[in-house]
This record gives sequence, structure tokens and C-alpha cells, in this order.
Amino acid sequence: MAVDFDLIVAEGLAALAAADGSGALERWRVAHLGRSAPVMAALGTLGALPKEDRRAFGQRGNQARQALERAYEEAAARVRQAELSRDLEAGAVDVTAPGRRRGRGRLHPTTRTLRKIYAIFGEMGFQIYRSRDVETDEYNFSLLNIPPHHPARDMWDTFYTTAPNVILRTHTSPGQIHVMRERCPEPIRVILPGMCYRYEQITARSDIQFYQVEGLAIGRRITMADLKGTLTAFAHALFGSEVRTRFRADHFPFTEPSAEMDVECFVCEGQGCPVCKQSGWLEILGCGMVHPVVLQNGGYDPREFSGFAFGMGPQRITMLMHKIEDIRYFFSNDVRFLEQF
Ligand code: DAH
Repeated sequence: MAVDFDLIVAEGLAALAAADGSGALERWRVAHLGRSAPVMAALGTLGALPKEDRRAFGQRGNQARQALERAYEEAAARVRQAELSRDLEAGAVDVTAPGRRRGRGRLHPTTRTLRKIYAIFGEMGFQIYRSRDVETDEYNFSLLNIPPHHPARDMWDTFYTTAPNVILRTHTSPGQIHVMRERCPEPIRVILPGMCYRYEQITARSDIQFYQVEGLAIGRRITMADLKGTLTAFAHALFGSEVRTRFRADHFPFTEPSAEMDVECFVCEGQGCPVCKQSGWLEILGCGMVHPVVLQNGGYDPREFSGFAFGMGPQRITMLMHKIEDIRYFFSNDVRFLEQF
């Protein structure tokens, strides 16, 4: 029986023009391109034809099928577009409304304080030295003149790992030994920022993880006057040039003599308020002249070299500057806290 492929295509295209939705379109696809569609059925008879007719028949059949397929793709695209427009018109989406503005990111308040500290010490010639968070017991304690069983270790209980003597550092001070051993006998002027860890009760004032910024200067004629001058200049740059400062004697095993530095309370300007606990002063860092034993452990001969060191908590300073009452906000990941800065 002769097959009229032109008629099959013509009927298919006529039916397609009437298909006006995705449902009708799918029914059309099954009827006109599916397994029992006329064009497919005709192509299925190819094997029964005399050999000499097969080639021409197959060609015409494939052309017809391709014509229907092309028409289908075009119709499908048209229907999709029409349905999309209809949905947009019917739905609540107002495509002419202005876009929603993205919230701008900002730096974490601690990062901002850290960057100010870096800039101030950078201008005074201090380099940033990155030291490791994971330390040995020796670096964290013994080499800093805190022997095993020394009661000072009670102040710095830490996290231990399963490897013997490998701990998370409780302060940035072990970095002092690393720089000294690396740079000896060169003079040193570095700050060592980084995270510290302590095994403590988490409260509004103390977390188990916090930042410190350590400082170290080693040279041949460094005195307590250099320490006081450097740290006073730092406080003036960070808190304002009028702010008063004072040093109080204190004790740290790795410095001798040791001191704490206070700045005049910038909340009440020294009058006394809840932030400074009515004292008029805020404690911002510990400092001192590097202990001869520590110098020696770093490779420096204490008869020739001297130096000063200091350590501060930038989060505590940030809390004072912004009257933040709870240190836990820093890592609680609450954008409402962060958006205030
Ligand atoms: N490492 C001390 C602490 O965590 C802080 C400190 C005090 C560091 C005095 C120093 C220093 O370098 O001289 O409490």
C-alpha cells in the first residue's frame, strides 16, 4: 500500500495548531510521534518492502518524522512561554516591582579592632608574626619559665590532645619563643595575634576560645622606658590622644618586672561608672621586661640583650569600646548583634 507521507505531515500540523496547552501538546506528541503514530507505523513496514524501494521510502519517512518533531519543539516553546506569561499575570508576582536590595556585609567588630591594632603597631615598625595554635607543653609553659607543677599553671588550664604533651595554646606567649629561636641574634619587633584556648566555665566574661595579641621587642638597649613609651603611644592612637594611662606592678612568670596597663575609663572619663567598676580605670593589657630565662630559652644572651613583651585581649578591648556586656555574642553568629557595628 502506498503511504502518503505528505498527508501524514499535513494532518499532524493541522492537529498541532489546535493544541493550545501543555496537556493537549503531550497528547499530540503521543498520537503523532509515539510508537503507534501513523509515521512510525509506516516506517515499521520498511522491512516488508521490496529491497529497491526501501531507501527512498525510508528517506521520505524520516523527513516526515523530522518535520513533525521540529513543529512539535516550536509549539512546545510557544506554549511554555504563553503559560509563563499567563502565570505571571494571574499570580501575585509583580515583575515591575524593584528588586530586593541585598544586605551589605561588614567586618566583625573583633576584626575591626584587630586591624586597628595591626595598623598602630605597623606604624611603629612591628611586623605581624603568625604562630601556631597547637603547641607543646614545653613551649606553652616550661620555656616561658613556668615549670611543671608551678602554681601559675592553674591560671591556664587548657585542652589536651591524645598526642602526649600536645595542647591548644592558652596564650600567644609561646610565639615569643618561636620568633626568638627563628630570628636570634637579630633584633625583634613583632606582634603575634591569634586564637587562644582555655578550659574554663563559659560566662559573660570568659569564653573557652578568644583572641590575644602578643607583642615582643628584643634588642641591645631596650629598657622599661621603651615599654612605657610604646604602649602609651599605642593607647593614645587607639583610644584618643587625651586619654590618661597608668602602669601597675603585677606578676607574670615570663617577665621581670611585670605590670598591668590601665587606661582612663573612656565611658565616664575617670569619674567612676559600672563599666570601670567605679575605679575610673580600665585594665587593657599585661606587660613587662622579658625574663632573662625566657631570653636565654629563645637563644639570646641576657647579658647582651633585653626586651619587653605585652599581651592583650582585643575582644575585651572591643567590649569596653562598644559597651558589649557579654563575650559570648562574639561567636554566637547572631546577625542582629553584628548589624549594630
Ligand atoms: N600571656 C599572658 C596571659 O595570657 C598575657 C601577657 C602578660 C603576655 C604579660 C605578655 C606579658 O607577653 O608580658 O595572661
